[in-house]
Amino acid sequence: MSSDSIKQLQNKATQLFQHHFNTSPTIFSVSPGRVNLIGEHIDYCDGFVLPFAINRHLLIAAKPVNNPVATLFAELGGDTIHISLDQNMTIQAPSWSHYIHGVLHHFREATSLPLPGFNAVIVSDIPVGGGLSSSAALEIATLTLLEHLSNHTLPPSLKALLGQKAEHSHAGVPCGIMDQFAVTFGRKDHLTLIDCLTQKVELIPFPFPEIACIVTNCGVSHSLADGAYAKRRQEVNKALQSLGKSSWREVRIDDLHILKNSPSDSDAILFRRARHVVSEIARVQKTVDALRNADSSKLPTLLAASHDSLRNDYEVSCNELDLLVELANSSPFKSSLFGTRMTGGGFGGSTITLCHRDNAEAFANDLATRYKNTTQINPFHFITHPSDGAHLLQ
Ligand code: GLA
Repeated sequence: MSSDSIKQLQNKATQLFQHHFNTSPTIFSVSPGRVNLIGEHIDYCDGFVLPFAINRHLLIAAKPVNNPVATLFAELGGDTIHISLDQNMTIQAPSWSHYIHGVLHHFREATSLPLPGFNAVIVSDIPVGGGLSSSAALEIATLTLLEHLSNHTLPPSLKALLGQKAEHSHAGVPCGIMDQFAVTFGRKDHLTLIDCLTQKVELIPFPFPEIACIVTNCGVSHSLADGAYAKRRQEVNKALQSLGKSSWREVRIDDLHILKNSPSDSDAILFRRARHVVSEIARVQKTVDALRNADSSKLPTLLAASHDSLRNDYEVSCNELDLLVELANSSPFKSSLFGTRMTGGGFGGSTITLCHRDNAEAFANDLATRYKNTTQINPFHFITHPSDGAHLLQ
């Protein structure tokens, strides 16, 4: 299925490339999107996170040119940009081009290499604003292309960190490392366990061939750049400071009494934010144990506790995501359910629902229908499984 999605994108990009540049592309760089099984909003708190790359992709078809100009056409915006690759690249209007500028800038800074000129077409089947890391896919597919054109392979962790830097400096989103690491390191049939303190990655085999993952996009998206994400980061930094610790990995749930017993209203908020961080780190560790023991019975409770904590303590869910979770939990196919929760940054976006593969299609359609009956929103949904990270097509 994964290669079907890529094949279709490759065909489409080839046609568009021929149309725009009157020649055929010679390089295809592809990056998946990601979902997160568990470990939400703790990648910027030295936590553990457990995402996986999905079988939805962004693909760049390209061909080198001899002059120092990058010309890119993006199917999504329907617009073409020209970037002069001299020292003073100026940022252009369409928002997708900011990620490209950012990546070009940080690649040049990290490698001290001159940037290679190229023509490119970008196509994708990762919904934008769906909480599935379409922007990380754009950053990492572009870096994969630059590696090839410059004949310079970056260490994978550095590559992911350059993508994150581009997001900070050129898109204004102070994200953690999860998305870029997930789409860089993803491997078919594996989850990507990231220790965000050491930035070490361990691939954990997904031991349940009978379980499929449904992604349901609730159809609303509130931009992470609108300040709520940055505010959470400030709150957890403040909480950590009040606890007198230098890393969340040193904090135990009992340490939180300092905030809990404080009479101040703002400390009451910090207490809830801190409780989310500490409890979510523990839930990731329990989930990893369940995976290593191939014990799927623990998943529903762990995923439910994660969602509740994100809704009540961290306050990054929204009515639409809560409704999807509620509807999945009251599904006529409930006996096939292995857990459901919001995934990604929140404030809209998507849920994941683990479900017996035999009933996944029926479960997903029923969930979408009942969601539409309540909200009038027809949710985009698909079934996915852990897939390979960014790579060049042979
Ligand atoms: C967004 C950010 C990630 C991470 C998640 C929440 O996807 O880009 O770094 O913080 O939100 O887990």
